[in-house]
Amino acid sequence: MKVDVLLGLQWGDEGKGKIVDVLTPEYDVITRFQGGPNAGHTLEFNDQKYILRSIPSGIFQGEKINIIGNGVVLDPLLFKQEAEALATSGHDLTERLYISKKAHLILPTHRVLDAAYEAAKGDGKIGTTGKGIGPAYTDKISRNGVRVGDLLHNFEAKYAAAKARHEAILQSLNYTYDITGLEAEWLEALEYLKRFNLIDSEHVINEYLKEEKSVLAEGAQGTLLDIDFGSYPFVTSSNTVCAGCCTGLGVSPRSIGDMYGIFKAYCTRVGSGPFPTELFDETGDELCRIGHEYGSVTGRKRRCGWIDLVALKYAVMINGVTQLIMMKSDVLDGFDTIKACVAYRMDGQELTQFPYEINDTIEPVYVELPGWKTDMTHMQSEDEFPEEFNAYLAFLEEELEVPIKIVSVGPDRAQTIVRYTED
Ligand code: GDP
Ligand code: IMO
Ligand code: MG
Repeated sequence: MKVDVLLGLQWGDEGKGKIVDVLTPEYDVITRFQGGPNAGHTLEFNDQKYILRSIPSGIFQGEKINIIGNGVVLDPLLFKQEAEALATSGHDLTERLYISKKAHLILPTHRVLDAAYEAAKGDGKIGTTGKGIGPAYTDKISRNGVRVGDLLHNFEAKYAAAKARHEAILQSLNYTYDITGLEAEWLEALEYLKRFNLIDSEHVINEYLKEEKSVLAEGAQGTLLDIDFGSYPFVTSSNTVCAGCCTGLGVSPRSIGDMYGIFKAYCTRVGSGPFPTELFDETGDELCRIGHEYGSVTGRKRRCGWIDLVALKYAVMINGVTQLIMMKSDVLDGFDTIKACVAYRMDGQELTQFPYEINDTIEPVYVELPGWKTDMTHMQSEDEFPEEFNAYLAFLEEELEVPIKIVSVGPDRAQTIVRYTED
């Protein structure tokens, strides 16, 4: 069997968690391949709401195997808090959540370094989630990281060396901090982590594929936050794109099957960095209010704007998207007209190709489509879609050249419409 990939095509928070949960019954194994607790994936069903950070979103539908892959950076303390909260609500995962020995650990000093680097950048700060993601991946790439598998071999020495290195950097930055309490809790959490199956996940996943088991890989963040292809330097520190799934799980490009690209019917971004279609007016406020656009991890207000097809086409290209999933359509239910950016005006020229750098001089070129002015939140089938909504879907499919397979009309698992259209 193949690994199907589901990942975000915008700046994160597209609704990945909800759809992974919806698709889970079709799969045997659900995996995360990159990112860490900077992610916040929200799932709602039976009047319950869960926010997952490091744990894959395939834990609620049947007793499926869930795997945290080698490409993930894991904070044992945040992981413990997440897993314990789930156990308390009746979802004990110790038997069916596996963790790659090659995943890197986020140390307490990584969090401090994250804050120190942000402080040093002043107005140019990235607006990170403050979870130590950048410093943990930096250590991985510079070959100084501490891995989950190190818990089983000479951990103390490796931890002490990494910590001493971080302390020297923090001293050079004159950054004052106190992690005594945090560190004690973090070290305690390592024992909790050891209760889980710490595995050679690349072997296990490839065995599953040989045994004809189906695997779904759940992306975190989004394509425009990718370290190579996102709006650098305002990005995260991992490859969020489809190719990251191969390195983040240890599967060959030939094992990738369907590539689900998920996007909001409009667009949001949290943190700093360019956002050509951002709205600073009442419409932007309306999108934020109706869409409850506040970060699930940091609570920060998300910046809101119209859909950006220049950026989306780029994301479709980089990932090789085979099926599209459109989220939060209901947020646009009340709008008279809906805008979609089809080009950027820059230096007197109209660009339809996502440029090297998005600067402040870019002006979006919009087409305007009629709104559907219909409450779609109770709809069950595409037969009920208003004409104007069908026109919006057809317009997007023509622009993006990929079919929209699923439409989401509310946060609940049940508010999901699978369309008849195949490939
Ligand atoms: P993720 O990080 O991609 O998993 O997305 P988040 O969970 O951070 O953000 C998506 C937010 O939108 C969550 O609060 C979801 O509950 C909510 N949501 C998901 N799909 C829909 C939808 O179709 N309509 C509405 N109104 N909310 C949705
Ligand atoms: P999910 O998986 C939205 C953003 C941060 C910041 C930048 C770098 O829920 O979609 P980092 O802490 O990764 O170094 O921050 O990336 N960011 C996200 N934005 N959703 C996310 O995850 C994000 N994870 C990181 O706001 O701009
Ligand atoms: Mg999120």
